[in-house]
Amino acid sequence: MSDSFGEYTSIVVFGASGDLAKKKTFPALFGLYREGHLPKTVKIIGYARSKLTEEDFKDRISAKFNVGGEENKPKVAEFLKLCSYVQGQYDTPEGYKELDKEMDAYEKHNESKAKKERLFYLALPPSVFGVVGKMIKEHAYPTDGRLRLIVEKPFGHDLESSNQLQKELAPLFTEEELYRIDHYLGKEMVKNLLVLRFGNELLNAAWNNKHIKSIQINFKEAFGTEGRGGYFDEIGIIRDVMQNHILQVLTLLTMERPSSFDPEAIRDEKVKVLKAIEEFDTSDILLGQYGKSEDGTKPGYLDDETVKKGSKCVTYAALGLKINNERWEGVPIVIRGGKALDESKVEIRVQYKPVAKGVFKEIQRNELVIRVQPKEAVYLKINSKVPGISTETSLTDLDLTYATRYSRDFWIPEAYEALIRDCYFGNHSNFVRDDELQISWALFTPLLKYLESEDAPTPEIYPYGSKGPKNLRAYMNAHGYVFSDPGTYEWPLTTPNVKGKI
Ligand code: BG6
Repeated sequence: MSDSFGEYTSIVVFGASGDLAKKKTFPALFGLYREGHLPKTVKIIGYARSKLTEEDFKDRISAKFNVGGEENKPKVAEFLKLCSYVQGQYDTPEGYKELDKEMDAYEKHNESKAKKERLFYLALPPSVFGVVGKMIKEHAYPTDGRLRLIVEKPFGHDLESSNQLQKELAPLFTEEELYRIDHYLGKEMVKNLLVLRFGNELLNAAWNNKHIKSIQINFKEAFGTEGRGGYFDEIGIIRDVMQNHILQVLTLLTMERPSSFDPEAIRDEKVKVLKAIEEFDTSDILLGQYGKSEDGTKPGYLDDETVKKGSKCVTYAALGLKINNERWEGVPIVIRGGKALDESKVEIRVQYKPVAKGVFKEIQRNELVIRVQPKEAVYLKINSKVPGISTETSLTDLDLTYATRYSRDFWIPEAYEALIRDCYFGNHSNFVRDDELQISWALFTPLLKYLESEDAPTPEIYPYGSKGPKNLRAYMNAHGYVFSDPGTYEWPLTTPNVKGKI
């Protein structure tokens, strides 16, 4: 791609001593290097306030590397040779000046004499985005080159604070220079959505309210807020994963066909569908908070001492949603997100309308399941005759499970690897544009305000490790989703199941 940064790029990770950098950013940079997707001549600098020796820094950032086999071991040392550390404050110029000097010294080696190229990654809380942005602009901006700046969520707490953040960054950097990361957009299956939808006439033709009965996107985690209850209490599940990750998945699932795969063409369509989403109806939500596990071994949310006493913080939410356009009018959509559930899974379920009555006395609905994680899979539940002399129908599936279909030679990048690579190449498709961000906050802010008001409903307590609030099944039924008849569908299918009769 012509917009790609070259062989002599300076990559700076701010917040280099923090958790995100350690768990995600540096392992992603290493992963790209390991796979040959990062030039061997780049320079990587960690910047943070902590006083760390070069050795401490390297030990810290390499702690979570996925080496991926004996043969890659030498690559760790090679990679760490590219890395160095600059200690500095976020709000005073000295550290930035030193950083600039260090980059300058490296950039002088650029044999191609191309312009400076600097990629900054802010693995920092949004409270310092503004000041760090200003300092970068004043002391480390490559006036004779190009800059790309990756910023991490949360981009604000509500519409107002998000707008404020925008106001601080907008005078400093152009929209082209900014890369707002939502790591869900880097996940393999999320990146596959547009291909699945628009590259298959079979799916494309029936992707509308004439054929689809209901849509749901489920985000489930089998662990609670252990260790970060204090932080989570201010955030809740809706801000944590729904306003951003799940909504992004929903827009890709429901947007119209873009005129091309050009990043702006895609983002234009995402914005259009976001604008068609109706304001949340606060009577059409299901809220939960986890309590102790049934066997008493796992603590309830309120048992965490860092959480406010009697907090009504929502750790589970199912939100009914309507898209008012020709394609989706009348299709109930539910987005669900929850912590401390029975399993960790993210999946999309598109359930089709029943076939016309007549020939079949009883037959189940088609359902397309797109499993984002774990173990990527796409499967379509279809009805088929039970093999052999039987004339009965059974629900079975067309199954694309990645692990069985694709050999291990396919390197599926981690979300952060995919996105840092995109930024390197100057590809904005999988990053959040300013107007997208604004509309998503505008959509969620009234609901969040209501949930934080005196009138807020009390979330239903569900046991740690359960499926969620007990009214969930009824809630899903009310949104057009029909659960498969018990005992008639297994995944993967191992025994014949018979139910419907021809
Ligand atoms: C983060 C949330 O944005 O996404 C976490 O803050 C959540 O609470 C995480 O656990 C989920 O990401 P993933 O990639 O593990 O599904």
